[in-house]
Amino acid sequence: MQRGPSNKDSRWFGIVALFVVLGLVGIAASYSVRNWGLMAKARKLKNPVPSSDEAIAAGRQIYTKHCEKCHGVNGDGKGPKAADLSVAPGDFTDAHKMRTLVDGELYWQITYGRLPMPAFADKMSDEERWQLVDYIRTFSQNVQRPSPAAPATLRP
Ligand code: HEC
Repeated sequence: MQRGPSNKDSRWFGIVALFVVLGLVGIAASYSVRNWGLMAKARKLKNPVPSSDEAIAAGRQIYTKHCEKCHGVNGDGKGPKAADLSVAPGDFTDAHKMRTLVDGELYWQITYGRLPMPAFADKMSDEERWQLVDYIRTFSQNVQRPSPAAPATLRP
């Protein structure tokens, strides 16, 4: 008489275990299409560190230490190490490209990398990665921003 309920329990356990396994398979499958599914998720991330003088200054320091050797002091992808890489580092002065990339995508690339670019998730904090996003945006903003003197010199 004691066996009845425990058999029922073990059947439930089997069903639960089946769902757990199916869940894990689903998670594994979604990771394998990370570049598609999760990039769409990355696009929706809000930058919790809005661009400010402090964020940009902090970002510049981290950039000098971790990024400049590949992406270059001017963000043009021409750092001293760039020539040795199998893929050219991104050019952050390309204003058109930078407009098409939202903050969440830049943050995602910095976090997970893409060979030959290393991942930085365990090398710096979340906040530091957002500060980098704010900083690397300034490379294309400088290019876009016309010099205040330029239109005046064109006038007769
Ligand atoms: C070892 C060289 C190397 C280092 C160091 C490096 N990158 Fe990259 N980075 C690359 C390469 C190469 C790509 C292009 C990858 C691709 O297109 O597959 C890239 C792409 C990117 C992109 C994607 C956008 C674009 O323009 O292609 C971002 C954002 C980026 N890097 C930011 C950074 C930041 C911020 C750092 C410092 C924390 C950094 N990278 C350090 C080599 C590097």
